[in-house]
Amino acid sequence: MKGVILAGGKGTRLYPLTKSLNKHLLPVGPEPMIYNPIRNMQACGIKDVLIITSTEHMGDMVNLLGSGSEFGLRFAYKVQDEAKGIADALRLAREFASNENMLVILGDNIFEKPIDYFVKNYNSIQKGKGARVLLVKVSNPQRFGVAALDERKVIEIQEKPENPKSNYAVVGAYIYDTRVFDIIDHIKPSARGEYEITSVNNKYIELGELEYDFVKGRWMDTGTFESYYLANKIMYENYFNKMGIEQS
Ligand code: G1P
Repeated sequence: MKGVILAGGKGTRLYPLTKSLNKHLLPVGPEPMIYNPIRNMQACGIKDVLIITSTEHMGDMVNLLGSGSEFGLRFAYKVQDEAKGIADALRLAREFASNENMLVILGDNIFEKPIDYFVKNYNSIQKGKGARVLLVKVSNPQRFGVAALDERKVIEIQEKPENPKSNYAVVGAYIYDTRVFDIIDHIKPSARGEYEITSVNNKYIELGELEYDFVKGRWMDTGTFESYYLANKIMYENYFNKMGIEQS
């Protein structure tokens, strides 16, 4: 399995923090934000990771991460010229994936616990076929992709619905087989003009090939000041606990 980290976008909701800095390079606890998805790639046993970011921040990204040898990984980089949605960015991974399945993580999604169980379940339960998503219960589902569930399956995912059918957000970590690129080629942009990852996931639901896990531990996307603050607080608390540092 190969890994893809999506680290583009303008991060306007965090201005002025992100006016000249790429959001994914901002600190979250004692490390840059993008270290969290990188550590998840390591935890999942993935060696080859493609990092996709925008032109203006590619230099900073490469300066920070280099070849990946520091992490025991091999990094490749690609530029997303225009922010046209997550599925559109993923298109850029076609050659890199070269017929292997992919773990895709949005660079601003912070997981308190490693998501190795997610890849293990995909390989054992789905035998490496179809798509797998991660769900978490949230109090503000309107901000996310939201999954309508029956006892066993996801029936439908709606992107940022006004009237969500559940409190289960689809977080920014996805596993796909190689058919994902053909699926992306056939989806249409949404009303906000983006190629939505939710459209890709709904296609896998139609095929009857999308399964899910629930996130273990806490999860945050760092898109707003509130969630960015919370991610810092939790990651610092965990770090201080690990180091035996008392907090006053
Ligand atoms: C994206 C996805 C959404 C998902 C979220 C998780 O939204 O479109 O389905 O729930 O990431 O972070 P964004 O935060 O890019 O608007």
